[in-house]
Amino acid sequence: MSSQTHGTQHFDKNKRADIKFNAEAMAIVQTIISHYPPEKIKSALLPVLHVAQAEFGGWLSPETMDYVASVLKIKPIEVFEVASFYTMYNLVPVGKCVIEVCQTSSCWLCGAEDIIKHIEKKLNIKVGETTKDGMFTLKTAECLGSCGTAPMIQVGASFHENLTYEKVDKILDKYKSEGKQRNYTDLDYHNTI
Ligand code: FES
Repeated sequence: MSSQTHGTQHFDKNKRADIKFNAEAMAIVQTIISHYPPEKIKSALLPVLHVAQAEFGGWLSPETMDYVASVLKIKPIEVFEVASFYTMYNLVPVGKCVIEVCQTSSCWLCGAEDIIKHIEKKLNIKVGETTKDGMFTLKTAECLGSCGTAPMIQVGASFHENLTYEKVDKILDKYKSEGKQRNYTDLDYHNTI
């Protein structure tokens, strides 16, 4: 049974106590914060949320958002408002690799719908669902800025372009064999397929 990516999560005081950036992530967060004047610290929220999402399992739980609010000394609701607005933030648990299939004009004209159907069949999930093994979540996205190389998907920081079914199979097989969580903050990403 696959799980849906939509739903309401509840704040858990006990879990909140366990949420804390490790030293490396905190150093990155402090560097981000240092780019903004203290009275504008809220402007650091987007990049800090990316670090938090990468650090805490690929999604932003209510406890994680509460923690980020405490780090930036802003209200938890301010974090939630931002996190719930942008599609790059996941508010429910997701697979290690979130596949975002662009479905806007160029990609649509070049076969995005067929690519979506192909991925759904290959992974045995529908858009918005996560595979049983927790490896993949399938989402659709609006224009990801790679229209000239449509159709395309994004997985973490990687773009995969000029897709064919064969290429999609190779990409997904590679991610599965690596078994790693992919994040927007990855610095080691390669668009090799
Ligand atoms: S329409 Fe797909 S990247 Fe622009």
